[in-house]
Amino acid sequence: ITSSNSVDERLIAICQLLEQHIDYYNWVGFYFKNGDKNELKLGPYVGEPTDHTIIPFGKGICGQVAVSNKNFVVPDVSAQDNYIACSITVKAEIVIPIFLNGENIGQIDIDSNTPDPFSEEDERFLEFVCEQVSEIL
Ligand code: SME
Repeated sequence: ITSSNSVDERLIAICQLLEQHIDYYNWVGFYFKNGDKNELKLGPYVGEPTDHTIIPFGKGICGQVAVSNKNFVVPDVSAQDNYIACSITVKAEIVIPIFLNGENIGQIDIDSNTPDPFSEEDERFLEFVCEQVSEIL
């Protein structure tokens, strides 16, 4: 990842690294606050294309993290009422907020086809990734 790449290219490279090296990370993407609207917009990602390119705050796992400012680990997506399904193969999800100057400006979203795969180690690692991401934005 070199500084001559654009932000989007660098974010895609991060998605690719994560998806390729961690076998239970099957869809990896970024959502960011869409201007001054109360919604998220899909950014760079790897994995199956999703119809959910805009997510209102409060809706789904991603929309809830936009409001709560907290990590959201979902071991079993079928047990969630407020969930937006992107693919029937997905069993679990983790969403970690990205903070810039203390403000929740987006998130990394990872879907897994493996049930209950995410540990506190994933949370700490992805918090670190999100801190690094906030520094290149
Ligand atoms: N499942 C997410 C929607 C985004 S897709 O996973 C790519 C949610 O419930 O917010």
